[in-house]
Amino acid sequence: MANLDPKIKAQMINSATEARRHSHSPYSGFKVGASVLMDNGKVYGGCNVENASYGGTVCAERVAIWKAVSEGAKKIAALVVVTDSDQPWPPCGMCRQVVSEFAEPAVPVILANLKGKEIAQTVGELCPHFFGPLNLK
Ligand code: THU
Repeated sequence: MANLDPKIKAQMINSATEARRHSHSPYSGFKVGASVLMDNGKVYGGCNVENASYGGTVCAERVAIWKAVSEGAKKIAALVVVTDSDQPWPPCGMCRQVVSEFAEPAVPVILANLKGKEIAQTVGELCPHFFGPLNLK
């Protein structure tokens, strides 16, 4: 597991928890918050934004990543996902693919819930075979 400075981790969990409060999820009722630390040192938060068409829904992780990329930050240094569930939930397949575009396998991922439970993983553990050149060792 790659290391994440405890202060930065706390800042990222705060950012994801705060973003989660803005979740627009009238259809599923499931609020998700995410944050990414980019290599420019900035933390970007995002929440899931649902749509009446359902298909227009965007996950919290991708909102956070697109905020970062649209401001010129392209390398993810850490990712946090916050849900209000007994067990923290990991990102969906689509988000894992998007994370893989901007993160090296060693990048730490913290899955957290609102009760303070945390599961530490890496991008490589979550996304072993994303779409792209196959690099089996
Ligand atoms: N959702 C996320 O925000 N992140 C994920 O990785 C998977 C699911 C959102 C989408 C939808 O608004 C709600 O959770 C239920 O699927």
